Amino acid sequence: MKLFADTANVEELEALVPLGIIDGVTTNPSLLAKAAADPRAVLKRICDVVGGPVSAEVVATDAAGMVREGRELAAIDPHVVVKVPFGKPGVRACRELTEDGIRVNVTLIFSAAQALLAAKVGATFVSPFVGRLDDVATPGMDLITQIVDIFQNFPLSTEVLVASTRGPMHIVEAARLGADVCTCPPKVIDALFNHPLTDIGLERFLADWARARQPVG
Ligand code: G3P
Repeated sequence: MKLFADTANVEELEALVPLGIIDGVTTNPSLLAKAAADPRAVLKRICDVVGGPVSAEVVATDAAGMVREGRELAAIDPHVVVKVPFGKPGVRACRELTEDGIRVNVTLIFSAAQALLAAKVGATFVSPFVGRLDDVATPGMDLITQIVDIFQNFPLSTEVLVASTRGPMHIVEAARLGADVCTCPPKVIDALFNHPLTDIGLERFLADWARARQPVG
């Protein structure tokens, strides 16, 4: 499963990318709004740092506006994947941008039916939001099971990108269910590294080594 970082913070990415575990990045208007610099410059910088797919979202709400904005975003860098919100304008824009050879991530997916429609118009990625479903007492991971099952029934090239992840178990479950990609905030990626037994084990190995090397007598 590919791991994307869900952030528009270049410093966070500069720390994560050298670890070799980051395959791409997702941004959204809320994340880009936090960056002080010009959003286009930030996106270009992220593409340079990551060298993989970088989702950049349109803010237009009509199909023509989304297509126009999508083309502008795609012109920033070949790594840009245009993100459009699900809905009739988004589906129409996805079809037009895909026909132009531009990769599209259809976001704000909350049902398997929506994922299927996005796949039909050639989305490169669909982004189901698991955390926001959990927030309203609906198991987000059940939606991933449904979408992965449906996509396995047909020769679709659309990838399932699990979004709105809030903790390590979302990532583990996404991998277990066969999702193609999981995007995570950097603090969740950090949490993937942690296990107290690893820390205790290392401490013990080092202590044993130091004891064995102490001069006898
Ligand atoms: O990838 C989408 C993500 O940024 C939304 O996450 O935590 O705001 O639901 P959240």
